[in-house]
Amino acid sequence: MIDEHERKLLNVEDVFGDLPSLETPRLVLRRLTRDDAEDIFAYGSDPEVTRYTGWQTHRTIEDSRVFLNGVLALYESKQVAPWGIAHKTDRKLIGTCGFVYWLPQHARAEIGYGIARPYWRQGYTTEAIRAIIAFGFQSMQLNRIEARCEPENTGSWRVMEKVGMTFEGVLRQHNYAKGTYRDTKMYSILRQEWTG
Ligand SMILES: CC(C)(COP(=O)(O)OP(=O)(O)OC[C@H]1O[C@@H](n2cnc3c(N)ncnc32)[C@H](O)[C@@H]1OP(=O)(O)O)[C@@H](O)C(=O)NCCC(=O)NCCS
Repeated sequence: MIDEHERKLLNVEDVFGDLPSLETPRLVLRRLTRDDAEDIFAYGSDPEVTRYTGWQTHRTIEDSRVFLNGVLALYESKQVAPWGIAHKTDRKLIGTCGFVYWLPQHARAEIGYGIARPYWRQGYTTEAIRAIIAFGFQSMQLNRIEARCEPENTGSWRVMEKVGMTFEGVLRQHNYAKGTYRDTKMYSILRQEWTG
């Protein structure tokens, strides 16, 4: 039993007000900057990338700037915000990943991710998400990290499996997106299951 009074809750601002860069063998996860707009447009305008995402395909670079400004505002207000995924040797921003929400009172958060098509199926997302999960358990004191995707998004649920998440079931018609109600596969990893 965890004593309610013993649990010291972190503030979102304390962690996300000073979001550190995270390094993996091939990637640096870092804050987005205004200079990333073109790289974001390169993948954000690809309908294959946005096929299963909650956001629409970017039609012009202005759409990418609107997205970017939204993220910069989250950094500014010290709220939960994504990291950019920068490729070390290609010196490009190839995607984003991070937490989409965090409930400190439940020590629970959800992750999300997406990368540019030329970088698919080379283990990059798995590499980035392992680092995010470590950050979640170590720096955010999470007990449970969730991830969700559409059943047809095989690449996404394979990432969840590869990082050690457990499939918990299908939430039927859970989201309304792009004109239809869509099922969602729910995955999670608990602190006690995390092997580091
Ligand atoms: C889903 C996505 C993030 C996967 O990224 P990725 O970097 O290709 O994933 P990884 O290379 O780490 O692959 C993890 C596993 O999934 C497999 N995989 C990846 N894409 C796959 C696909 N389209 N079909 C089948 N398996 C796939 C990989 O082969 C790998 O398994 P293996 O090591 O056994 O071969 C990427 O396709 C993407 O950005 N899609 C668009 C955005 C999106 O849908 N985001 C998720 C929303 S929930």
